[in-house]
Amino acid sequence: MKKPVIAIDGYSSTGKSSISKIIADKLGLIHMDTGALYRGVTWYALQHCVSQNGQIDLNLLFSSLDKINLEFKTHEGTLVLYMNHTDISKEIRTNQVSENVSLVAKQKEVRDFLLLSQRTLAEKGGVIMDGRDIGTVVLPNADYKFFLTASIDERTNRRFLELKGLGIEADKDQVKHNLVERDKIDSEREIAPLKQAEDAIVIDNSELTKEETIELILSHIQKI
Ligand code: C5P
Repeated sequence: MKKPVIAIDGYSSTGKSSISKIIADKLGLIHMDTGALYRGVTWYALQHCVSQNGQIDLNLLFSSLDKINLEFKTHEGTLVLYMNHTDISKEIRTNQVSENVSLVAKQKEVRDFLLLSQRTLAEKGGVIMDGRDIGTVVLPNADYKFFLTASIDERTNRRFLELKGLGIEADKDQVKHNLVERDKIDSEREIAPLKQAEDAIVIDNSELTKEETIELILSHIQKI
């Protein structure tokens, strides 16, 4: 029997990636954190495509996209993102990347560049993919679609703790500001905006633990 394709979309820091990873392990699926791909391209841009005024030179980035090779590998049970054979899983979580990623992600050239690898991965089934436009654009025919949301204060706490765990210094007000800004840019962009697919099941996990959210998602999957 073909394994399912599951789309998990939602706001920043609702736990999409860590929840998807655990569900993938439980159901024997491949997990793709698509946010990491956009972060990877942003990190590349910050290294190689910055103009004299300190801003990302988008045209230079567009003409450099073919030099970027992004690959996920599993290392001790954790998904690690490699760019051109270098592990960049920590670099992509820095504040500088978080502050620039939504600008990069709203560009058509960048979205087109990343779309094919996402769709190809899902062709054979057995995939759980998390992001912003998975249920609406990348995999509109996914077998199951979920949309996660939570209060801004709860999400700020989660991101703050995540950064602390990674050893990255963070200020709570700055973290909150970044989440609000990113959600705004992601929701208002023209191409593939962050929005709930009409057939997605919405889960507000402000008051739920990660384990409870996972149980809820699994109970829906078993029900359908
Ligand atoms: O999931 P994460 O917070 O790491 O995503 C970082 C950014 O990547 C988002 O704020 C958004 O700008 C972009 N993104 C996107 N489409 C996706 C996944 C992420 O535009 N499918």
